[in-house]
Amino acid sequence: MKVNWPERIWVNSPVRKYVQQREAKFFSQLRTLVSGAQCLEIGCGCGVGANIINQTFSPAAIHAIDIDEEMLYAARKKMKAWNTVPLHLLAADAQELPFPDQCFDAVFNYGIIHHLENWQKGVEEISRVLKDDGTFYFEEIYPPLYANPLFRHILDHPKDNRFHGPQFREALAESGLNLLNGYKESRFAILGAAVKGRS
Ligand SMILES: C[S@@+](CC[C@H](N)C(=O)[O-])C[C@H]1O[C@@H](n2cnc3c(N)ncnc32)[C@H](O)[C@@H]1O
Repeated sequence: MKVNWPERIWVNSPVRKYVQQREAKFFSQLRTLVSGAQCLEIGCGCGVGANIINQTFSPAAIHAIDIDEEMLYAARKKMKAWNTVPLHLLAADAQELPFPDQCFDAVFNYGIIHHLENWQKGVEEISRVLKDDGTFYFEEIYPPLYANPLFRHILDHPKDNRFHGPQFREALAESGLNLLNGYKESRFAILGAAVKGRS
């Protein structure tokens, strides 16, 4: 589900960029990437996260998808200034990723899984495209944050089939994604990394 205009302002703000930079640093402390890594970012928005991933992990390439052509248009404009970023932008649905099985060393999710109507399918797709021992890095938020009495009137999210921490962690495990120790979680959000096929 595309973001509405108030959320668009938030995700394009300098504060959001600062938060993503801090989170990428935390991700890299949880697990580094192999050299020459192929990365995917789902729901890349205007591309800021992909640039941060590039600066933090120096991968060989980043594929970044979003369902919203307007977001991708903004990302294409911004990436002209980031001429060192090996970035491939594509319009696609995170619930049906247009990539073969086991082709990425890492998948990044900066707060988009709660935008998916069938979020469990999104988690399965992440696992499908990850190589064995590949890493899923995620920042994800729960209804007490995005659907509380204030934000549910301002923001636009799917209403059914929602998840909190226990359901999210269970879906990771069911998809063969093993949560690494050191993740941070509250009733509002989770920040962490999970490795495919490793317990
Ligand atoms: C909350 S924004 C996050 C944007 C960016 N990752 C960030 O952290 O600033 C959610 C993003 O997910 C995208 N999105 C929503 N549903 C999607 C889907 N089914 N497939 C791919 N992207 C989707 C939206 O267009 C939006 O850019």
